[in-house]
Amino acid sequence: MLKDNVNWQVTGIELWAWYRFAVGEADEAKIARREVDWLLQAVSDVDRLSLQLGDVSRRDQVFLDRPWLEILDLWQRRLVQRQPLQYLVGSTPWRDFDLQVSGAVLIPRPETELLIDLAIDKFPNASGNWLDLGTGSGAIAIGLATAFPAAQIHAVDFSEEALMVARSNGSRHRLMNRIQFYQGSWWQPIDHLKGQCQAMISNPPYIPTATVLELAPEVVNHEPHLALDGGVDGLRDIRTLVNGAPDFLVSGGWWAIEMMAGQGNAVVGLLEKRGAYQNIQIVDDWAGFDRFVVATRL
Ligand SMILES: C[S@@+](CC[C@H](N)C(=O)[O-])C[C@H]1O[C@@H](n2cnc3c(N)ncnc32)[C@H](O)[C@@H]1O
Repeated sequence: MLKDNVNWQVTGIELWAWYRFAVGEADEAKIARREVDWLLQAVSDVDRLSLQLGDVSRRDQVFLDRPWLEILDLWQRRLVQRQPLQYLVGSTPWRDFDLQVSGAVLIPRPETELLIDLAIDKFPNASGNWLDLGTGSGAIAIGLATAFPAAQIHAVDFSEEALMVARSNGSRHRLMNRIQFYQGSWWQPIDHLKGQCQAMISNPPYIPTATVLELAPEVVNHEPHLALDGGVDGLRDIRTLVNGAPDFLVSGGWWAIEMMAGQGNAVVGLLEKRGAYQNIQIVDDWAGFDRFVVATRL
């Protein structure tokens, strides 16, 4: 989306020639072609169809939100340094929102949207105190606050830099009266909410430490390891969420997390061992992988 003060332009033919060239570079680098479209859509007033049909080449001018050379440099950083496009343009779509992102936060993933859908299915008219632990960009908190106008959302993150991004997203979506943000580790900053929460939702770090280093360069070199690394077995933070939640949830309160595919049985085992949950269920993602576990506080 083009910003308000537009001072830069390029000719349609020049942009079209570069687009064709960049698509070839994307193919060679095994980057999805649509990323070139996204980049140009984010920094100029072109739409995807006019790029794909070549109509843009007939325009005298295309308006840009920054100098053309800067845009070429962004693409080089995508290609050579494998920086995620979302960080380069500073935002990402997630559910119905446009969320700001920086290198301080995980780029919210499409599968995490399912956590909000699960919550809506289970509690169509939710109210009371809802927790988003490890809020990052604020995606889950914003999704919950929008879905549940009668609920109050409490969002925690250890990273002050991440919370700055989350607050900015909350403010852009006019939800700051509905979301409270806290800096600290998991349950520590919300002690005052003990026994008063309807639900806890979390997408915690869950990747085993050794596996983090094997992730795609976009992830391992650019996304915050605080958001990824779940300790030796990947379950360090999930254990904290399993063990702490019974002190915070009301009876019948809901516990829901995202995890790494393959962790389902281990997480169910932790919940069973804690002895404070019922209706423990593994839920698959769209690709059929065990991706979420939900449970109810006894
Ligand atoms: C996988 S990211 C999820 C971010 C966001 N909720 C999402 O779904 O896109 C995990 C988040 O947990 C936060 N985190 C890591 N350790 C934490 C801790 N001890 N206490 C609170 N948050 C923590 C990270 O900073 C990161 O923002």
